[in-house]
Amino acid sequence: MASFTKASVENLKNQVNIVDVVGRAVKLKRAGSYFKGLCPFHNEKTPSFTVSDTRQYFTCFGCGARGDVIEFMMRYYNLGFGEAVEKLAEEYGVKLERRSGYRDQNLKEYYDVNQMAARYFYRAFTGGPNPGYSYMKGREITPRILKKFGIGYADREWDSLYRYLKSNGVRDEIMLELGLVSRSRGKIHDRFRNRVMFPIINTNGKVIGFGGRALEKDARAKYLNSPESKVFLKKNNLYGLNLSRQAAGKEGFLILVEGYMDAISLYQSGVENVSASLGTALTENQARLLHRYTNDVVLSYDADAAGRKAALRGIEILKAEQVRVRVLHVTDGKDPDEYVKVHGKEGFLELIDGALPYADYKLDSAKRHFDLASSEGRVGYLKEAARIIAS
Ligand code: UTP
Ligand code: MN
Repeated sequence: MASFTKASVENLKNQVNIVDVVGRAVKLKRAGSYFKGLCPFHNEKTPSFTVSDTRQYFTCFGCGARGDVIEFMMRYYNLGFGEAVEKLAEEYGVKLERRSGYRDQNLKEYYDVNQMAARYFYRAFTGGPNPGYSYMKGREITPRILKKFGIGYADREWDSLYRYLKSNGVRDEIMLELGLVSRSRGKIHDRFRNRVMFPIINTNGKVIGFGGRALEKDARAKYLNSPESKVFLKKNNLYGLNLSRQAAGKEGFLILVEGYMDAISLYQSGVENVSASLGTALTENQARLLHRYTNDVVLSYDADAAGRKAALRGIEILKAEQVRVRVLHVTDGKDPDEYVKVHGKEGFLELIDGALPYADYKLDSAKRHFDLASSEGRVGYLKEAARIIAS
């Protein structure tokens, strides 16, 4: 979280004119007391996008986009709040005051330690032969993509990360709080051992946590994630959004998948507008977060019962956030990763073309609960269908 004092952000807003900022991106024409142009947030032929000089505010009567100059920067350039403020200030030569409260200093230390750990895992992964690298190679992920996602390896030792961080002056409490290490019977040891490491990076570019995939079948958990901490709240973040939000803006929609590997695999195939929920059901905060970058989401969960249930829940949450939703389930293979390996980008894009709008998906799901061969079943289904359509 890049953070600046409220006063300096207010000052920035007073120093710049939204008409000028928007005018650099959108061709504007004066129309009475405001300016008019083609909306950059949806496709249109006649202008319904207006910018008010007096109110320092933009509004689109076509798609509903609205906000102040910072909101415009965030949406147009796909930036987080802090990044938008920073970019604007830089472009107009306005000085910002960083907030240096205890809380921020404190968080910075946590981010830094996570970053050190990520680099440590990355070096172990790329520095020489190791089971993690072999595993990812076996899964056909290219070096370019491994680097892009910052994939790493946690070795088999009991305390190699612990010793490394300690020798760099990191306090035990911080490592414990971040869940990089844990304490048992008075001894501290690494939490992640013999795992491929997926750093989870937020939209401000900070490493907030990790997912670690087991390389041994008998490991306690296939994926072990960082515990929640001051800097890692699962309900507020999505995996890969730091890389995919740009493409989401360009493509006009975002694909949401279940797994780390689904996101990486699709990204590698050329479907870059993809992000993964962090092993939890989609939350309101995640919906709000992705709504910053897109208002159209394709849910692409596994085809199993859990995946269908997750899709139905996801629909409700996204609709409540005014996001358009479509749903697809892969028709071959267990998940998007397996599917795209066989059918490639084109195959996956075809699935997206066939994705069901949310009402059709709900009707389709409801059908599964009734025996349509019996008249009771048909009546039951019709009643349920009427309810879905009415809503
Ligand atoms: P899946 O079990 O569907 O695995 O978990 P996957 O993504 O296909 O993984 P691969 O392809 O076998 O490597 C989906 C997601 O659920 C979370 C992870 O985020 C995972 O990516 N998960 C799964 C956990 O957090 N812990 C687990 O033990 C398993
Ligand atoms: Mn998988």
